[in-house]
Amino acid sequence: MAVERTFVMIKPDGVMRNLAGKVIGRFEQAGFKIVGLRMAKPTKEQVEGFYPSSDDWFGKIGEKTKHRYNQLGIDGKAVFGTNNNITIGKMVKKWLISYISSSPVVLMVLEGNNAAEKTRKMVGNTDPINADTGTIRGDFTLESVDWANSDKRAVMNIVHASGDSAEAKEEIAYWFKPAELFDYENAFDIIINKLGDA
Ligand code: CMP
Repeated sequence: MAVERTFVMIKPDGVMRNLAGKVIGRFEQAGFKIVGLRMAKPTKEQVEGFYPSSDDWFGKIGEKTKHRYNQLGIDGKAVFGTNNNITIGKMVKKWLISYISSSPVVLMVLEGNNAAEKTRKMVGNTDPINADTGTIRGDFTLESVDWANSDKRAVMNIVHASGDSAEAKEEIAYWFKPAELFDYENAFDIIINKLGDA
């Protein structure tokens, strides 16, 4: 048992499709406590600083994208003009910057048992067409990485959730001031405390 906090963003497509309430509701229903919540229209600079700029990160994005293209039998070079993972990762980041800064997002901090791991499971695969039914991406969109890339844009996958507990700490600190985060007792705490005392 590890009660921790994680960061979730409802991306512009989620907000514009009126899915914010449904997405927040899923996390509430699972037992997460909302400890921070606000809306913002991130600047390009804020998005640039949010997503990593290391060759390691660019390389991973490029590698995953190429892997998907291989599965689909599509020539990635024809789409990106290169086979270089880092160059592909940098192109994806540019698309991400214009996507996330294009329209308001909802930023939230959720608290719960194994919060980072559980929210990632609930969100589903990055490529929505590969996301399981029952996950947010699997249930709410038919979008896919190859579709997005053929239009030279980031994949519109409704939500972002921190990759792990360490990333969650950094991302929470990036978007929230300590005074914007709240400690309080919710119904789950009361039930668990009551049963624990019985
Ligand atoms: P997110 O979980 O916010 O973190 C990295 C993001 O990069 C990911 O969601 C996708 O939105 C985006 N992304 C990753 N690979 C691609 C790709 N090949 N094309 C477009 N967007 C991508």
